[in-house]
Amino acid sequence: MVSRVIPVDDFDLVIFGGTGDLARRKILPGLFRRFLSGQMPETSRVIGAARSEIDSDGYRQMIREAIAEFGGAEAQDADGIEQFVQQLHYIPVDAMGDDGWKELHSLVRFDAINAFYFSVAPSLFGALAERLHTYKIADGDSRIVVEKPFGRDLASAEALNATLAEHFDESQVYRIDHYLGKETVQNLMAVRFGNVLFEPLWNNHYVDHIQITVAETVGVGGRGAYYDKSGAMRDMVQNHLMQLLCLIAMEAPHQFDADAVRDEKLKVIRALQPVDPHHIVRGQYDADGDHPSYRDDAEDPRSHTESFVAMRCEIANWRWAGVPFYMRTGKKLRARTSEIVVVFKDLGHSIFPGDEKRHRNILSIQLQPNEGIQLQVTIKEPGPGGMRLIDVPLDMTFADALGPDADDSPDAYERLIMDVIRGNQTLFMRGDEVEAAWAWTDPIIEGWQARNDVPKHYEQGSSGPEDAMMLLHREGRKWREIRE
Ligand code: BG6
Repeated sequence: MVSRVIPVDDFDLVIFGGTGDLARRKILPGLFRRFLSGQMPETSRVIGAARSEIDSDGYRQMIREAIAEFGGAEAQDADGIEQFVQQLHYIPVDAMGDDGWKELHSLVRFDAINAFYFSVAPSLFGALAERLHTYKIADGDSRIVVEKPFGRDLASAEALNATLAEHFDESQVYRIDHYLGKETVQNLMAVRFGNVLFEPLWNNHYVDHIQITVAETVGVGGRGAYYDKSGAMRDMVQNHLMQLLCLIAMEAPHQFDADAVRDEKLKVIRALQPVDPHHIVRGQYDADGDHPSYRDDAEDPRSHTESFVAMRCEIANWRWAGVPFYMRTGKKLRARTSEIVVVFKDLGHSIFPGDEKRHRNILSIQLQPNEGIQLQVTIKEPGPGGMRLIDVPLDMTFADALGPDADDSPDAYERLIMDVIRGNQTLFMRGDEVEAAWAWTDPIIEGWQARNDVPKHYEQGSSGPEDAMMLLHREGRKWREIRE
């Protein structure tokens, strides 16, 4: 397979929060990889902007170190790093004041694409947008990139959207949900809309239920203070899991373009039914030997914030009426895995005498870490003994099927930043989508607060609280085992 790297047009990317964690861990190592691949033009520049009073040389040194730490195998390429850092610049900028803005204005080129990455607290979005406008640094062609959390409820998301809209058109705003940049997440669309095989079965006539699992082994230690104000619902469900749900459930867009895709996703979110409180289980991980509990990590012995959530949702439209969508996500679980499982209905009648098992076709789409697709099919058990049936997986692990090329794809941030430069918003959330997602999650969170709901305990390294198992068991179903 030939890898086709098409260089993007020349650009200046200004990163507000350019010395921060995200910039050092993800954005700059990601850009470095795109530089090495030949996708980032040699004339393009990355301009770090933050409060620290360092100069461009100091910034280059900081980023050399960041690449050494977070750059993966490519960090061995010392010559490559030296060439890349020559494309970096730095300007100390005061987001709330006037310092640095004139200098930024004189540095940014207007004959190249310019993009501004707000890798800062959302409370600064308004100040940055206003100053970019006042100092005439951004114009109608500039791109604005914003990170999650995009608000913490509908009202705050609306306020952020309104702030950005004062100075920028929606077509200029790129709201990042890094799950949309993952290779296999895009593959969901390729599988669904590039094959004739699945579409006729992709509805409530043939699908029994769908499971979406995003399990992590890490806890919240180190970011407990932030996380405790958020919880799994705000941190993972409102964005990443709902985006996966949309891609699995949406109708085919008439073409693969930004608004056509996002229109269809929005319809799914709007069709989501309010969730019955009995259909949600929240959890918090317990201490385990030397490993602190969630409450220790959050530094709040009485915290009621969830590090795990599982729920049963329904989408009220013709395609999906009556089909449960079970979603779960949590920290400190048995394995790190993200998987979508489509469980088809059983046949209803078996023609094979003695075959009492209810065979089901199950399509499982593994998003990470071992990307691939498996389809469970029923076949005859080989050998004598009559027509005994067994279920076996048709396995397509991408690393096996695609060889080394499977590893070669850009990571989520790299892909998304290149899409910003290309001006392609397909993999970014539109303002109305984010608001609709909050409109669905807000009543759930408000319900917990009103009832003073206390999360169930679960053991570290488990699959979450027992009640999460019951969510399916009581309907005669069962979660897929969480494993890599
Ligand atoms: C982030 C969440 O958006 O996604 C984190 O804030 C979470 O809590 C992370 O750990 C998971 O991302 P990934 O790419 O490691 O699955």
